[in-house]
Amino acid sequence: MNKKSVVLGVGGYLPKKILTNEELARRVDTSDEWIVQRTGIRQRHIASEDEFTSDLAEKAARDALNNAGLSTNDIDLIIVATATPDMTFPSTASLVQQKLGITQGFAFDLQAVCSGFLFALATADNYLKTGMAKRALVIGAETFSRIIDWNDRTTCVLFGDGAGAMVIEATDVSEHGDRGVLASSLRTDGRHWKKLYVDGGVSSTGTIGHLRMQGREVFKHAVGMIFDVVEDVFEKTGFHGDDLDWFVPHQANKRIIDGAGKKLKIAPQKVVVTVDIHANTSAASVPLALAVASKDGRIKQGDLVMLEAMGGGFTWGASLIRW
Ligand code: ACO
Repeated sequence: MNKKSVVLGVGGYLPKKILTNEELARRVDTSDEWIVQRTGIRQRHIASEDEFTSDLAEKAARDALNNAGLSTNDIDLIIVATATPDMTFPSTASLVQQKLGITQGFAFDLQAVCSGFLFALATADNYLKTGMAKRALVIGAETFSRIIDWNDRTTCVLFGDGAGAMVIEATDVSEHGDRGVLASSLRTDGRHWKKLYVDGGVSSTGTIGHLRMQGREVFKHAVGMIFDVVEDVFEKTGFHGDDLDWFVPHQANKRIIDGAGKKLKIAPQKVVVTVDIHANTSAASVPLALAVASKDGRIKQGDLVMLEAMGGGFTWGASLIRW
């Protein structure tokens, strides 16, 4: 293949309504101190009743297009990673395409829960490299507030709503130096599904259901799984933890982020952390963190950036990008 995918822009969107730890502590038996100490989370954003996943995705997509200096007409592939689609069908990606006024190319959803953005990025990268599309919008968008059991203190403190997006373009390998997606690694092990799932669905219960999680079990596997895929990407590319300019992990829990950074020997000042402001937004968390660190000037063109995520399934993935 003589094509590669270069990042042209990133964007994000968080709904206006903020739900703080203190407000949550008035609903369930928890405290700001417990949540901050165990997770690093201080607040989360909640979509309004008439705001859907596709609305969040559209806003993040427009922000990313603006950041890239492109218009909607430049896009011929949209992948929306989401576990909380507007409807059973059509795909949220179809709705986003319509909201953006795009009529060319193709669009579809991808479901890998918290690892969704990494799976979507690797998928889009392959479409671009094989010449099936020229410019892709890769979006992670979630309204987890709709599947949270707000009476369950072990889960309701952890999640929030939001969307993040990235624009990537197929270019010849000889262009832009070594910029582009350098390598990705994806993994799934369905034996773990009962540790993190939603107890409802179209063909099982006919209901939406609520998120259920064995938190300690998820925690136990997270760091090792993240290490596994990041090391795989290092092996494929010949880089090491020391070579990274930025490590942008899935924003689920500050303790998981710290544990992974330590095991991978990545200096704490190179780790982008935004979980304090938006909690775990599942597939949206990595592009949201990227949008923050790119717009505040930390991530610059030419930087070596490692992305990773782990979540329900279990699924896990990593991607190394020369920005
Ligand atoms: N407030 C106060 N107390 C709580 C709360 C809460 N919100 N939630 C649980 N507790 C209590 C428990 O009931 C338990 O009480 P007990 O000892 O009387 O039984 C005590 O706190 C300790 O509970 P643990 O579950 O052992 O607490 P732990 O230190 O493991 O922290 C947590 C829980 C934060 C969920 C942690 O296990 C975790 O972060 N796991 C990873 C989960 C995660 O990030 N999931 C996101 C999806 S997957 C992903 O994105 C990677």
